[in-house]
Amino acid sequence: MNAQELINTTRTLVAGDKGLLAMDESNPTCNKRFARLGIPQTEEARRTYRELIVTTPGLCESISGVILYDETIRQAKKDGTPFIKVITDAGIIPGIKVDTGAKEMAGHPGEKITEGLDGLRDRLKEYFQMGARFAKWRAVIAVGDGIPSRGCIEANAQALARYAALCQEEGLVPVVEPEVLMDDEHTLERYSEVTEEVLRTVFNQLYTQRITLEGMILKPNMVLPGLSCPKQVAVNEVADATVRCLLRAVPAAVPVIAFLSGGQSSELASARLNAMNVRFKSRLPWALSFSFARAIQQPALEIWQGEEAHVLAAQQALYHRAKLNQAARRGEYKAAMERT
Ligand code: G3H
Repeated sequence: MNAQELINTTRTLVAGDKGLLAMDESNPTCNKRFARLGIPQTEEARRTYRELIVTTPGLCESISGVILYDETIRQAKKDGTPFIKVITDAGIIPGIKVDTGAKEMAGHPGEKITEGLDGLRDRLKEYFQMGARFAKWRAVIAVGDGIPSRGCIEANAQALARYAALCQEEGLVPVVEPEVLMDDEHTLERYSEVTEEVLRTVFNQLYTQRITLEGMILKPNMVLPGLSCPKQVAVNEVADATVRCLLRAVPAAVPVIAFLSGGQSSELASARLNAMNVRFKSRLPWALSFSFARAIQQPALEIWQGEEAHVLAAQQALYHRAKLNQAARRGEYKAAMERT
């Protein structure tokens, strides 16, 4: 492992108030999103959509890295140019999702364990040779009656740490994503407790597995009320609860925290990230950034709808959303910018 290279890659990913664009939906997830809009669920449709994303003019002004899926990293533009070359030529760093998905966890009804450690060292070598310089692994933690269990939290945290160790050995910056799912009715207080417990456990494991914290990225959920919780709260309350939780659990050596969006609307995700930076940026040890999938892509996907004639408008929407999130990193986002 060359720790300095990992640190340099991490710094490049954080520089210029840029963020990450997650375009690593697995085929079933991508197909589900296409199906909702009546877009054909074929390999060619997925390729065409990913071409739209990676050829968006000016994307590199606000996006430093894109996270790809195994199918996508091997794909090319219609003219034959490999996506990985298009991305690198645009000055964006390619990353790759390397877990193989969250599966039912034995002995833990309602909970999942993320798989993908078997053979990971060899897959990482291949991805590095292809040009990837960072990777992502997502653990999912469900909240409910009696869950999450310690067994689920600990097993997922250990898998994240073992993945991170393998990434660093192979020269890839690990994006460590322990996602507490926010799609039900629990309160902000409940999600805050669970998120803190999960993050503390993850960092214990990262320490045990000898991770260089300066050469990694944490990708957590924001601390929110659940999407169907009757008690929603103001943007500033989300900002305060999220930062309070992170301050308790994330070591100062971690250079950047890049949030997932987790089903929030694009506008709320930007506004909440912005509020954190407005209120706390000058006092925090880590940068607060974004690594959104839905909250960046959704408007563009809805405009595109699989139609060639809509590509330019969809690219403009993607560019705009990425710029708004860059503004949120700076604490300069305003709702009025949504309409410009
Ligand atoms: O693993 C999940 C993605 O990388 C983030 O997706 O922003 O739609 O939650 P999201």
